[in-house]
Amino acid sequence: MKKCIDHEYGQICIYADKSAACEGVAEYFLQIVEDSLKKRGSCHIALAGGSTPEMFYQLLAGSKYREQIAWPQLHFYFGDERYVPADDAQSNYRMANAAMFQQVPLPAENIHAIPTQAGDPDTDALAYAETLRNCLAEENAIPVFDLILLGMGDDGHTASLFPGTTILQETQKLAAAVYVEKFQSWRISLTYPVLNQARHVYILVTGSGKTDCLKLIFSTQPHEPMPIERLQVRGECVWFLDKAAAGSVL
Ligand code: 6PG
Repeated sequence: MKKCIDHEYGQICIYADKSAACEGVAEYFLQIVEDSLKKRGSCHIALAGGSTPEMFYQLLAGSKYREQIAWPQLHFYFGDERYVPADDAQSNYRMANAAMFQQVPLPAENIHAIPTQAGDPDTDALAYAETLRNCLAEENAIPVFDLILLGMGDDGHTASLFPGTTILQETQKLAAAVYVEKFQSWRISLTYPVLNQARHVYILVTGSGKTDCLKLIFSTQPHEPMPIERLQVRGECVWFLDKAAAGSVL
């Protein structure tokens, strides 16, 4: 069972637990893929990193959904990446590769990982922007994803758009390097212009660790908008929450 409400930030759907929320994303995901393939013959999807979405990727690659998905017509990208080697335990690519890519008939050339081997995050961020320009159709000179999956940190960051970082002001670059003080590490992230340009943005947030942040985001209490609140998605934006994250606020 789910409860959905409309909000200025999009549609908020609340599920009993994380597994149900992932099933919810999967059902919406199948619809997006079907619609994109019908209209454009391909589907370009940017994945979220972190720990939350791994269950969702495993679900898509599992027996219930794998056969329903036309994998060779899908292209996968990343919303952000930690600036570590692709085989590092911190790598978002490594997580998605193990959870999904390796389990499904997806051609290697359909996986567009964010490069992290130049030894300079700015160089690799520029290279990734080129990849987006080469692989995606553009509208108003900005590449258009069919779907961008995002998560949210307990500080309200999404992708690697962290509070207090200069990338929040980036309006020209499609992807940028960002130094994250709290982790004392570099990351590469898509920027707001690209995130906002997507046809669909799905935000998967689960667990009681996110309750306080969500409470503030969806409250009427005056507060400094967090990075995730500054999204202005032109297409459909749906939040997939479990009860543990939604708490009593929604
Ligand atoms: C990353 C993600 C990041 C993530 C949040 C939530 O690279 O870490 O892209 O934006 O979605 O930090 O992370 P958890 O899912 O681990 O809570």
